[in-house]
Amino acid sequence: MPEEKQRGLYRGLTHYGDIEFSRYLRRSFARSMGYSGDELNRPVIGIADAGSGFNNCHRHFPELIEAVKRGVTAAGALPIVFPTISLGEPFLHPTSMMFRNLMSMDVEEMVRAQPMDAVVLVGGCDKTVPAQLMGAFSAGRPAIQLVGGPMMTGRYEGERLGACTDCRRHWSNFRGGDLSVDQIEEIEGQLATTAGTCAVMGTASTMACIVEALGMMLPKSATIPAVHADRLRAAEATGRQAVWLAGQGLTPDRIVSEKSIENALRVLLAIGGSTNALIHLTAMAGRLGIAVGPRQLNELSETTPVLVNLKPTGTHYMEDLHAAGGLPAVMRQIKDLLHLDCPTVTGRTLGEELERGKPWFDKNVVRERSDPVRDKGGLLALFGSLAPNGALIKCAAADERLFEHEGRAVVFDTLEDMAERLDSPDLDVHPDDVLVLRNAGPVAAAMPESGYIPIPAKLARQGVRDMLRISDARMSGTAYGTVVLHISPEAGLGGPLALVRNGDRIRLSVSAQRLDLLVDEDELARRRAEFDSRARQPLRGYAWLYHKHVLQAEHGCDFDFLRQAGVGGEQAPPG
Ligand code: FES
Ligand code: MG
Repeated sequence: MPEEKQRGLYRGLTHYGDIEFSRYLRRSFARSMGYSGDELNRPVIGIADAGSGFNNCHRHFPELIEAVKRGVTAAGALPIVFPTISLGEPFLHPTSMMFRNLMSMDVEEMVRAQPMDAVVLVGGCDKTVPAQLMGAFSAGRPAIQLVGGPMMTGRYEGERLGACTDCRRHWSNFRGGDLSVDQIEEIEGQLATTAGTCAVMGTASTMACIVEALGMMLPKSATIPAVHADRLRAAEATGRQAVWLAGQGLTPDRIVSEKSIENALRVLLAIGGSTNALIHLTAMAGRLGIAVGPRQLNELSETTPVLVNLKPTGTHYMEDLHAAGGLPAVMRQIKDLLHLDCPTVTGRTLGEELERGKPWFDKNVVRERSDPVRDKGGLLALFGSLAPNGALIKCAAADERLFEHEGRAVVFDTLEDMAERLDSPDLDVHPDDVLVLRNAGPVAAAMPESGYIPIPAKLARQGVRDMLRISDARMSGTAYGTVVLHISPEAGLGGPLALVRNGDRIRLSVSAQRLDLLVDEDELARRRAEFDSRARQPLRGYAWLYHKHVLQAEHGCDFDFLRQAGVGGEQAPPG
């Protein structure tokens, strides 16, 4: 077949056993959509639309996608929009995390199966961007990411409100008795007032920044507010760029490398980003055969300052970061720590892109190197007898007074157990105790964002606002507190977390990067012999597939059969 007949709409013909018939039939059905013959001969740019009525963060996608199409058309190609699964964070049961891999499979297979020369991935809400890129990395077609951008802040009695750090703060004030029902209802109506993703440096914003750092998105486009006209201009420019990528055949594996993944980790640390991003970046990298490990994180953490003063760790919001110079301003501050020779979707290197932008930045939001928010260690992996394969703490969002802490375990065996007993007046709990939640890991419960264990009501009313909390769950990127997450192996697989009993002593040492259960080995061996997993294998459907194939947090919670062979030497969970 002549080469031009393998591109655009003629790419990957449907098998009918007669190539000319396949071509004729595809042309005929494409014409039924009203395309002229000329259009059918252009390169095709697929636009993966993750809009959904169940996704408030993406409610502006119709307008955004029109702008992408405009850019594609202006550059001489044919834009074709196709839907994929959408993951609206608060609308999914039991947790959106369970469906990230499903969405990644949808994206991968549809990008590969349908005739497109490049794809624009339009996503935003937490899991959508990693899912799209995991899929696109595996599909191996030229791809470029466009995000929806962050929400604008709302107001309550003159105070700025941004989802969802302020959601949590006001909710804990309400639980502590400082706000009335009427007040919390009024706040509820002002927390999320525009289209776009959460207004703070939560998971969605963190992922957007990481993807810009990886070179898979146009420069300075991660932070543009959802409702700003610049967001539409970025969408149009993304459409144009996709046509260029298609012409070059520039696939993601030629952009993303070990060095650009390291850049993304540096950026994750410098922006004080979400703990979830480490899981997602690990999964994304794994699709290209690149390993990311907790120990690598700690090495980089030792030398990367936290420079962005945004909630949940600081005071400002995403719209402020954009006005302050956006992500390029942050990357310019840590230029000496980045691999500047990494390529990007623009065809220029990261270093060239940073040279091009305006050097001005607002020092209140993006701190100078000489005046960081923290001089190092925004995120830290922990090891020890309670977390042989690692756990994670966001030091930047935690209370330093609890960094070296030993306390008595108060154990909640499951999420249901926690919901039932946490606020009971009979709960035997003191402010110095360590709250333990288990059976909330990837296999047992699809790893929900419940690691931000609420302060028990009776302590909240006494004014306690933080305690050491540990679990095999995740937490929202918008949350804060002294919270140890992603303990691996999880309790459901018989990790040491499963063996903790009420009253055991647990010790956290941030300086030693350790989390330990202070119980002697004989006693632990006795408990281990009695262990019975609560992680039950579902009988059918996606839940069955998920449960059988999901990997632990240190492997990005990807499915064993989706990672590129040989990454990390991981084992599938039993069952
Ligand atoms: Fe979509 Fe927060 S709920 S980004
Ligand atoms: Mg979130």
